[in-house]
Amino acid sequence: MFITGLLVLVLTIIICILIRYSSKTKTFPGPKHIISLPNYFFNTILKISNEKLRKVFLNIFFPESARFVELTVPLAAQYYTSKYGDITQINLFNQPTIIISNADFADHILRRNGKNYTLRFGNELGLQYLGMENKGIIWNRNVQRWKYQRLNFFQKALNSKILDDAKYISTDAVDYILKFLDKFQIQSNIIDTMDLLRAMTFTITCHLFLDLPVGTISIEKTKYYVNSIVQYFKAWEYFLLKPTEFYKENLTIKHKQSIQKLNEVVEELISIREQNNNCLFINSLFNALQNNQITKEEMNQCILEMLIAGTDTSSVTMFYFLLALCDRNELEENLINELKQNSYTILTNGLKESMRYKPVGPVIMRCAIKNDIYNNIPIQQGTNIIINLVDMHRKNEDFISPNEFNLNNVQDKDLSNTNNEKNPFLPFGIGPKECVGRWLAKVEMEIIIEKLILNYSFKRANGTKTLEELQTRWDIAQQPTHPGYMFIKKRFE
Ligand code: HEM
Repeated sequence: MFITGLLVLVLTIIICILIRYSSKTKTFPGPKHIISLPNYFFNTILKISNEKLRKVFLNIFFPESARFVELTVPLAAQYYTSKYGDITQINLFNQPTIIISNADFADHILRRNGKNYTLRFGNELGLQYLGMENKGIIWNRNVQRWKYQRLNFFQKALNSKILDDAKYISTDAVDYILKFLDKFQIQSNIIDTMDLLRAMTFTITCHLFLDLPVGTISIEKTKYYVNSIVQYFKAWEYFLLKPTEFYKENLTIKHKQSIQKLNEVVEELISIREQNNNCLFINSLFNALQNNQITKEEMNQCILEMLIAGTDTSSVTMFYFLLALCDRNELEENLINELKQNSYTILTNGLKESMRYKPVGPVIMRCAIKNDIYNNIPIQQGTNIIINLVDMHRKNEDFISPNEFNLNNVQDKDLSNTNNEKNPFLPFGIGPKECVGRWLAKVEMEIIIEKLILNYSFKRANGTKTLEELQTRWDIAQQPTHPGYMFIKKRFE
């Protein structure tokens, strides 16, 4: 009996090897495996209850997946990029996965053949917990519903009028939050800069999209809501990718509570809004709900996603720029002089360089809807795609001094969709699933930084490291691991 079993096993392995080599098709460079093990073998390993043993087996048979579980997506992606080059193919959770930091291939995926890649990959159950599975637009894997919600709510709302409104609303929001500067102080004149910036972008988002004018939400509530968004990000990183077998019960409970909390915030914001039909985003959502074009869950998820996408990304980017200015007196002086003459080149380039040097979205994750081909190499339907923006933004051939924060790196780089086959600078992505908020982000960041830097000076405090030394966690977002404390002083008192 034992001998028969063993023979069957050996035979199966030989057949697997033969199939692999007989059907060997061209693939991109990457780690090579002697045998290609079927999915059920991967699933069997995941089911091993002893965690250590499971890790050992995973490390032996599926080393790439083990690395992705251990590290985060951007770090693991960077590991393979540095080992195999700017196009590399690995096996992630038994799915072909291509990691790209080649500008032409990235353009093929995102723009030229973008329609084939409007899906993202992620763990189904994790996405369900997050409320993103088949809802909202960021990770919605139902392409029809994604398209409908993106076009009718997000794109419709983010029109040129809102960009005009954003100018004076951002000014009002900065003034409002600055009235409560003391609430962001951890000690005399030392503030938590990240939270201050988040409070500003949150206030702008609520005014522009949720019919909640600047000043409607108290500062205490603003801080509470902002914290709920920060906690949701942590849950997002926890649930997004790894197989459920790697969940830890206490962490799963904690992160589920964070998701629940942000959903309650959404309900609360809807209930306190002033209904005046001025606000296209929330009004179109309510109209669609009344006409049964969307469900209540879809509506709430769209609101939740507007809050998470609109708040943290711009705040982190502005923080990096302020941090760069803390240690560059000459740049700061030049910026102030330029702003006083209503000139914005340094401001625009400074923010662009912050997005290049530390892209807040370090990777773009996608998935092939249908079979495709690039440079005569087939890309199977269902292949995962990771665009490694961090690496792409540091190429010697595209940037003057890629490893330094230097505005010359981006002075010739465009933020608009240039239709260029080789776009090495893509902080917002490009194509049909690019960032919908890119122009709003530009407007609000420029106004916030202008107002702040003309009125206050910022210096690093309480152990906050320089931009170069700052530790960041690379996950869905690249965020500082420690609070961004800064000494803040009013200019010309
Ligand atoms: C510095 C600020 C920002 C950066 C660097 C940034 C970056 C990104 C990136 C890299 C993506 C993925 C694009 C892709 O898959 O090709 C994205 C998606 C998205 N962004 Fe932004 N973003 C910023 C600000 C904003 C703001 C202010 C909003 C909302 C008002 C926003 C809303 C969104 C949404 C809804 C998506 C998902 C789009 C989709 O999947 O269809 N973002 N963003």
